[in-house]
Amino acid sequence: MQNLLNPEYYLSAEIWQAEREQIFSKLWQYAGHAAQLAQPNDWILANIAGREVVVQNFAGELRAFSNVCSHRFSAIRSKPCGHGPLQCPYHHWTYNKEGVPRGIPLRNQFSELADPGAIEKLALERWAVDRCGGLVFVRLAREGQSLREFLGATYPAMQAASESLIKVVREFEYTIEANWKVVIQNTLELYHIVAVHPRSFGKGMNYKQLASLRQVDELVAPPHIVYRAESIAAVAPTPPPVTLRTLLQRILLSIIRPARNMANDGVRRKLNPGLFSRAGGAVHFGIFPCFNFAISGLGLATELVYTPLSAERTRVRVRNWAPGLQNLNLIEKALMRWRQATDANFTRIIVDEDVLANEAVQRGLHNKGATLLSSGLLSEDEHKVHRFQTFYLEAMAAHEAARPS
Ligand code: FES
Ligand SMILES: [Fe+2]
Repeated sequence: MQNLLNPEYYLSAEIWQAEREQIFSKLWQYAGHAAQLAQPNDWILANIAGREVVVQNFAGELRAFSNVCSHRFSAIRSKPCGHGPLQCPYHHWTYNKEGVPRGIPLRNQFSELADPGAIEKLALERWAVDRCGGLVFVRLAREGQSLREFLGATYPAMQAASESLIKVVREFEYTIEANWKVVIQNTLELYHIVAVHPRSFGKGMNYKQLASLRQVDELVAPPHIVYRAESIAAVAPTPPPVTLRTLLQRILLSIIRPARNMANDGVRRKLNPGLFSRAGGAVHFGIFPCFNFAISGLGLATELVYTPLSAERTRVRVRNWAPGLQNLNLIEKALMRWRQATDANFTRIIVDEDVLANEAVQRGLHNKGATLLSSGLLSEDEHKVHRFQTFYLEAMAAHEAARPS
């Protein structure tokens, strides 16, 4: 298969601007998890298409606004999440759920505000916000598909997979010196894992074993890519750093192996969101263009949010999520805590390894630049990269049509 995107797509500031208009401003973008917005006055801050957006719970209702105060344009929120009324930290203007400043200190000193309707004109810029299970999305375009239409066939599965998650086990962020499509494409193929992941996925693996790994398409839901990698989670679990606690958990679980197996079955029965026809592996949701969400049979999830910062820089935020453990017995809880620590550690190593590979690709694209004769090749294992590129070109079609030939 031919690679469909030439190097210009990964280097050009003009194409990145067009992507902002054609893709990131038009489509629903993941903003955060509803567990962080559970209580009235909980809020999160998200970067949507290069714009800061604050999502706030107003007495149970979610609203999304530009993070810019109408008074003299201070950012209202400066942390990723928090709790409190929507109040600007500069002069304490406080906004209601319509985005209108209802609390203005020394209000009678603003002569313009005596006019009827003047206050409403100061309303914050408001965006569409909706949720699928525990996943909260924002859309900057005034018109467009509903979130349910956008997620299509993935909607029920994403809803089931995300609803039970209540706790962030671990969270970290990177800035990667690479175009966002380099980063996304890397998440869509396993061909690189022997070479790039010697400490995680690819540990002790050769290419013959790699070829036998099964990846099953779960759903056909263009432009999203959903698949189940059946055995990859079992390939090389990487233990977390040794602490007294992890050591005790490990000893406990290895001494009582039968109990461990029972615990595994018990957890699967109680926490598996029903996505798994067979045991093992993980279901990966690649929500177009830039949001990845994976969930294992034990109900543990990993969320990767990729935010393009420029044509050649991408931020990735990784969160490992866990469900509530209240229905589990003691051994099942110990197993889950162990797996939470293991999975979080495993994710960190994988992302570390991928960052280096992504940055090497970006440097290579630079060196080759427009002189590249062939646009590259894709193997069968990389067919999902081809699909992503096809969806991407379709989404960009309006822009392409408008470009001078
Ligand atoms: S800039 Fe926000 S209250 Fe003054
Ligand atoms: Fe990787």
